[in-house]
Amino acid sequence: MYDYDLLVVGSANADLVVGVERRPGAGETVLGGDLAVHPGGKGANQAVAAARLGARTALLARVGDDGHGRLLLDSLRSAGVDTSAVLAGGAPTGVALITVDPSGDNSIVVSPGANARLTEGDVQAAAGVLGAARVVSAQLEIPLETVSAVVRALPEGTRFVLNPSPPRPLPAEVLAACDPLVVNEHEARVLLGDGESGDDPAGWARGLLALGPRSVVVTLGAEGALVCDASGVRAVPSLPVDAVDTTGAGDAFTAALAWRLGAGGELPEAAAYAARVGAAAVTRRGAQESYPTAAEVPPPAA
Ligand code: RIB
Repeated sequence: MYDYDLLVVGSANADLVVGVERRPGAGETVLGGDLAVHPGGKGANQAVAAARLGARTALLARVGDDGHGRLLLDSLRSAGVDTSAVLAGGAPTGVALITVDPSGDNSIVVSPGANARLTEGDVQAAAGVLGAARVVSAQLEIPLETVSAVVRALPEGTRFVLNPSPPRPLPAEVLAACDPLVVNEHEARVLLGDGESGDDPAGWARGLLALGPRSVVVTLGAEGALVCDASGVRAVPSLPVDAVDTTGAGDAFTAALAWRLGAGGELPEAAAYAARVGAAAVTRRGAQESYPTAAEVPPPAA
């Protein structure tokens, strides 16, 4: 009935990555390792992660008519992502300036470029793709108005998954559509508001659910994740791995989660699979290049 298991609406960036012993403070210069240029962006990452796992996946995004845009299209297509809704032109391809420290943690500054030009009109023009997807997922490296337009255009019965990254306050109509809202600790604290969050992740999950989404997933890195819906909060364990680069692991988690939910999985089971996918992603460098295949992380039987 559906052409796509997952439609991702979101960003595509060229990731300019430098390894550092430590990040510079204000006014300071540090030397890093050789520059690596990887295909990235939270939207393109999710699309590649899902496609590598075997999901029939499409991406609605905008890249520039430039070398970085071609890098991204090549990566998407070689993973098997349908790029017929990837628009080109209007601004340079988005760029992410990324430092990775020896523990594998990253810091990222994004120049949105073409991502900021993905408009409500682009969403309306993609109604056919939206109507052909079982699950639609989004993030916030594109304009919030564009994400709102996606929510308004969702056909009845289409599941919507949102990772609000980078985080900002969300309109009620977007919150109400999320099933689930997927956040890490930083995103949870921003959405809950300063002074409202406390230090209890289960409290964050309940507090976020009270904002209106149908379900919530809080990712906790090496501590696993919490899933929360009207039936309560449940913990999902992570796998112990040696992390070399956490860049894009959250995107792989969200993509795997969205795909398995669309395949009929319950939230705890889908999150447990997503945690295995995210754990595999941190053991290799880069974002999209680090994502496992279904042979490496087999999905649970449908
Ligand atoms: O989530 C990781 C991604 O965030 C990177 O690929 C980078 O492009 C930024 O968007």
